[in-house]
Amino acid sequence: MQLKPFLLDAWLDQYEHGIEFNLAASTGPTWTVNDVLRLADDETRHRFLNHKLVYSRPAGADSLREAIAEMQGVPLETVQIVTGASEALVALMWLAAEPGANVIIPLPGFTTFSALPQSLGLETRYYRVRRENNFRIDLDEIKRLADSRTKLILVNSPHNPTGATIADEEIEALHDFTAERGIQLVSDEVYHPIYHGRKTRSAARLPHATVIADLSKAFSIAGVRTGWMIEPDEQRRQQYWTARAYFSISNTTTGEILSEIAVRKRDVVLGRTQEIASRNLKLLASFMAEHGDALGWIPPNGGMTAFPWLLSEEKDRPFCQAATERGILFAPGDCFDAPSHFRLGFAASGDNFSKALDRFGSFVKSWSAKMVTA
Ligand SMILES: Cc1ncc(COP(=O)(O)O)c(C=O)c1O
Repeated sequence: MQLKPFLLDAWLDQYEHGIEFNLAASTGPTWTVNDVLRLADDETRHRFLNHKLVYSRPAGADSLREAIAEMQGVPLETVQIVTGASEALVALMWLAAEPGANVIIPLPGFTTFSALPQSLGLETRYYRVRRENNFRIDLDEIKRLADSRTKLILVNSPHNPTGATIADEEIEALHDFTAERGIQLVSDEVYHPIYHGRKTRSAARLPHATVIADLSKAFSIAGVRTGWMIEPDEQRRQQYWTARAYFSISNTTTGEILSEIAVRKRDVVLGRTQEIASRNLKLLASFMAEHGDALGWIPPNGGMTAFPWLLSEEKDRPFCQAATERGILFAPGDCFDAPSHFRLGFAASGDNFSKALDRFGSFVKSWSAKMVTA
């Protein structure tokens, strides 16, 4: 078994620590343990400081599951806690990996979507989210890819890296299609509920959808490593529980209490991400208008990333490489199998974003001038 190199994490690991302006990260503003504890009442703070460092339960602590179930409007027993949405993806692809089976995933997309099924010998079929279609999904294309061997169709909304979203009617139509055929519909919603235009609802309302989500992106407390799955199907839940018990046994008790505080105080935590993302996206829109001779983009409808491109249609990696020398970090599009784009995260740098754009502006000018003389 071979796992393909994780280009994105290799790139981030090389440059992220110590770069002046990190526009590669897809998260939002950062939080310290102290910031999160300040949101809690005295009793919860006391519980946090005195909790025992033991294993938690494989399904997750009841009080965290309860907080998530309440937020998502689902019964507690449908919530399975995992170590980030990453572990949910491992469990799902692992369980889908039957001989001759295929899975359907987006391209471009978060690399884990393709790396896991490929390594497990699953046939991996891609539906395109095209620039010409504003990075939106084409339902007919997805349906055409499916056959009797399709185990799972994965959608990601808001989408990493483009920020495109899937309308409520679209996911409902896809849900009907998959439910009729006994195909598992997986909705990766780690950037929900950060929106910049029409808001969409969580697929947790749909009776046959599997939802995966986390506290890394919209909540922006990735260090707690909390993710969850919402699964209405009891048999599948049993399988996730078993997978979970084998893969990692449980989350940390420390992360679970901090997670519970953040979920219960979601108005504050998500509100902060939304405020910064909205403010910075406005700055980015003005920036893109000003540099429309060199850069193309489609404004994201949700999440904290955009996926611009160089109008010269050069490959983006040398551009991203040169940007690091000016103290700016983007994520090269080849990390998402789209080498003529780069991913720009606009919420992680918080109030520093305006300064980052000033630096980016002078870099774009010098890059374009170099291209003209080359
Ligand atoms: C679309 C998507 N799904 C899942 C993940 C996994 O994140 P985590 O394991 O931190 O929850 C990521 C991380 O970048 C992502 O972008």
